[in-house]
Amino acid sequence: MRSLIDITELDLGEVDALIAKAEDIIAHPEKYADKCRGKKLATLFYEPSTRTRLSFEAAMYELGGNVLGFSESQSSSAAKGESVADTAKTVSCYADVIAMRHPKEGAPLVASRNATIPVINAGDGGHNHPTQTLTDLLTIKKEKGRLGGLTVGLCGDLKFGRTVHSLISALSRYGGIKFVFISPAELKIPGYVRQGVLEKNGIPYEETTDLDGSIGKLDILYMTRVQRERFFNEEDYLRLRDSYILTQQKMKAAREDMIVMHPLPRVNEISPEIDSDPRACYFRQVLYGKYIRMALILMLLGID
Ligand code: NCD
Repeated sequence: MRSLIDITELDLGEVDALIAKAEDIIAHPEKYADKCRGKKLATLFYEPSTRTRLSFEAAMYELGGNVLGFSESQSSSAAKGESVADTAKTVSCYADVIAMRHPKEGAPLVASRNATIPVINAGDGGHNHPTQTLTDLLTIKKEKGRLGGLTVGLCGDLKFGRTVHSLISALSRYGGIKFVFISPAELKIPGYVRQGVLEKNGIPYEETTDLDGSIGKLDILYMTRVQRERFFNEEDYLRLRDSYILTQQKMKAAREDMIVMHPLPRVNEISPEIDSDPRACYFRQVLYGKYIRMALILMLLGID
């Protein structure tokens, strides 16, 4: 039995296999319509979500399975003080796989150590978000045709953005990746990513506050929201939230084949006028997220 807590638990061959499976599901959805008949996915969401929870649920329904769970911790026994460990043991009696989102870093790991069914980390605090990263990798593969040899700009809240941390870990394993980190000084990538991933693997990167000066050299621009819920005070959030707003004017300096990604939700950081630019792929990215989660559920349940 296997869980997915951190993206690096999957080796490159397994990531490739998941991407290939997702591509096959896109091409032949009817082949998969009954694969999870009789199986149940539990979505345990202790933090707000639209895409991650609904894409997991849609994925399970499209595989012919069923879904149960909660989308608010206040409606679960967490409100009475139940531990994540006990909840995981309990839900193991009802379901076949768990997708858990939690504001505390490490909570899905604790759940996986106590559950008797696979646990998928659907986002833990400011730490990791491996299924968003699988979504991002499938998006890059579909939109750019490759996962190596890319200059990737990540812009916005690189300190608290968990999707950023997981994506850096995942892309650092491919050849020819260069990162350009664009953020205010207060929201730079954390030390554990810098030392533990980038420096450890000798990955080239630069850090800048300047989006206009960097956009022209990027193959991918990955925009992120400033993570309001992780700030200690509202004043800092208000000061930093509009640090970067991608506009049509700024896009003029970008390459014709650069793609704009965003894990969503967007607040203010991409002007809606960009949505109709063919380089904007964040809503296609949403759809890819459902297919890769279908592939992941099949893999963790051992269904071919
Ligand atoms: C992200 C998350 O929850 O970390 N959203 C998502 O899952 N697509 C990004 C965010 O909330 O900013």
